[in-house]
Amino acid sequence: MTITEGLTFDDVFLIPKYSDIEHRADVSTKTQILPGFTLEVPFVSANMDTVTEHKMAFSMMEHGGLGVLHRYLTIEDMLKEIDLYNAEVKAHGIKTSVPFVVSIGANDFERTKAAYEAGIRNFCIDVAHGHHLLVKRCIEKLRTLYSDIGIIAGNVCTYQGAFDLFSWGADCIKVGVGPGSVCTTRIKTGSGYPQLSAIQLAFKAKKDYLAKNPEAQKFIIADGGIKYYGDLTKAIAAGGDAVMMGSLFAGCKQTPGTVFRNENEEMVKSYRGMASIPAQSDFGIEDFNEEGISLTVKYRGNVKHIIERMVKGLRSGMSYSGARDIKTLQNVAEFVRVTQSGHFEGQPHKAFKN
Ligand code: XMP
Repeated sequence: MTITEGLTFDDVFLIPKYSDIEHRADVSTKTQILPGFTLEVPFVSANMDTVTEHKMAFSMMEHGGLGVLHRYLTIEDMLKEIDLYNAEVKAHGIKTSVPFVVSIGANDFERTKAAYEAGIRNFCIDVAHGHHLLVKRCIEKLRTLYSDIGIIAGNVCTYQGAFDLFSWGADCIKVGVGPGSVCTTRIKTGSGYPQLSAIQLAFKAKKDYLAKNPEAQKFIIADGGIKYYGDLTKAIAAGGDAVMMGSLFAGCKQTPGTVFRNENEEMVKSYRGMASIPAQSDFGIEDFNEEGISLTVKYRGNVKHIIERMVKGLRSGMSYSGARDIKTLQNVAEFVRVTQSGHFEGQPHKAFKN
């Protein structure tokens, strides 16, 4: 039996590099996650029922990112969400908007057909353990049914998982098993992989796949586990073309659900794992393993301000590496592993008083 070492965001810092960037505005955060699908900012709101429906997806798109619709809606409600998104785009007079991405399960062909007929051309196959025969079959079937769709598939956390999903035909893979803020997969199943290393492995798989298939275009979304804006730069430097987040967006104005007051009279919204008991029972799913929790988060206002702060953090992070764009960041990035003392040194702390 082998035991491999895996690291995550708090285990490392990016090593600052010589920089000739005079203004943060000179740093481009442009990225791509599907062929022909460019984002101004590499941020994606999670396909979770307390994070992304049409309002969030629209705002993410409006501010340069992307929102992925969750798959826990009836087909009828999904179609309503698609219509509402399109209506919002039209009402704002937006001509070239980022297309809407809709999540599906590995056997959701009826849902896929309905979405396709409503004009959706980009799908996200959402399976907790995506390195799975069902995902392979799903990608293969979608490729035979539709010749003009983009496929994001996940989630995986190993080199082989990433390589196989690319080989099966996914354009983009989602990386992350258990790093999420409301996930209990690692506690409940013992499975998972520290997120920074998982992203690095996927990046290596992508490079190896592209070396063998130079015509192909393959992308990576690092999904879950972002606690600070600095983690965004680390996730992208390690190989993510974009980063998916739930908790950092939870509680903002555009997420589904209402604002209410908790026992301390604070304004809050609900945020929950899709495999939590409240989520699964709301969607009538009886046979499941509880692998998530449900909580409330403080109301955080318009997502616009969150995205603006993220962009500032990322641009600044990239300029510490002397990188004007994401590709350069990924080429030059070097990490230093930190001890626990190094980690605490990086947190705000008081000077010793004698
Ligand atoms: P963050 O850390 O941004 O993570 O809140 C969001 C990601 O968490 C995943 N997710 C889950 N993982 N049990 C899990 O193990 C769950 O119930 C669950 N719900 C969401 C998902 O990948 C999401 O994007």
